[in-house]
Amino acid sequence: MKVVITGGAGFLGRMLTESLLKRGRLVDRQGSLSDIDELVLFDQDAVEQHPDPRVHVVTASICDPESVAGVVTDQIDGVFHLAAVVSGEAEADFDKGMAVNLGGTLNLLEACRRLPYAPRLVFTSSVAAFGGELPSPVLDNTATTPRSSYGVQKVIGELLLNEYSRKNFIDGRGLRLPTICVRPGTPNKAASGFASGIIREPIDGITALCPVTPETLMWLMSPPTAVANLVYAHELPPAAFGNQRCLSLEGLTVSVGDMVAALRTTCGDEAAARVEWRRDPAVEAVVSTWPGRFESARARELGFYTDRDFETIIRTYLKTKPT
Ligand SMILES: NC(=O)c1ccc[n+]([C@@H]2O[C@H](COP(=O)([O-])OP(=O)(O)OC[C@H]3O[C@@H](n4cnc5c(N)ncnc54)[C@H](O)[C@@H]3O)[C@@H](O)[C@H]2O)c1
Repeated sequence: MKVVITGGAGFLGRMLTESLLKRGRLVDRQGSLSDIDELVLFDQDAVEQHPDPRVHVVTASICDPESVAGVVTDQIDGVFHLAAVVSGEAEADFDKGMAVNLGGTLNLLEACRRLPYAPRLVFTSSVAAFGGELPSPVLDNTATTPRSSYGVQKVIGELLLNEYSRKNFIDGRGLRLPTICVRPGTPNKAASGFASGIIREPIDGITALCPVTPETLMWLMSPPTAVANLVYAHELPPAAFGNQRCLSLEGLTVSVGDMVAALRTTCGDEAAARVEWRRDPAVEAVVSTWPGRFESARARELGFYTDRDFETIIRTYLKTKPT
């Protein structure tokens, strides 16, 4: 079988690639477990050739319908749609956010629609689907109320996922991902980027600025758990998703102060002292609209994965972090 990952050069795309290669098999369009013969990484960022012969790198923009149609051919069984402009960038550059997050998603859906069958498509939505005055916890049936360009683009993606699935153009599966933490490497343009920065940088001996107050609640998930959930979403039978094709995962609710306390417990006082509290109204304006508490009964009942606690997330990061 052939599988496509859009955004395959990104943070989660790379981890998902390794996870799929190691696993070797997925449920195909007939619903049987099949070997993955080809894994296409579609991304505008050039990635180095992968040593695994099953990997095929395509460097192109998802905003170009022809390039997208070029990879979404009638050999594909599954698509993981991860390509996106992240929250901070979509807020700063409205046109880019609309072109990639909305236009690109539509290009992909239209390419899938032209196939003679409905491929499985895993879509990555976000906590940013919610904002403003909300019940606490946010429930599975809480209306989406985005308060950012990125959140609006993700919610439109969720609606399109429902509609293209209802029309049987695709078999869509959407996950609202919590903020993924701890993200290795350099900071990205996500408004929530500090959540990883205040752990990653102090561990590396670097001072990190925290732009929000210690009381700010974050809804978090570790990278390995997020990737396991993307794969799991692909593997569930279509009936599991019913008419509501998108669900909120079970993230951890942790205050930023408690995140730093967990850093102290796992890495010592010196590391925790490297977090400098300096509020940034631009970051707060986006992040403070996101809810921190969810009751994701649907994800739990369907068997999606969750993390044990934030200290375990840090310890896992310490074991796997690049040196
Ligand atoms: N990481 C998180 O905390 C988080 C939380 C919620 C949702 N998500 C969603 O999960 C997905 C993956 O996130 P990530 O953290 O890996 O992001 P990332 O920024 O690391 O990866 C996104 C990838 O999309 C690619 N891309 C951007 N514009 C493109 C275009 N025009 N054409 C082709 N490729 C393009 C980028 O080059 C990048 O490699 C995204 O859709 C994101 O919105 C992530």
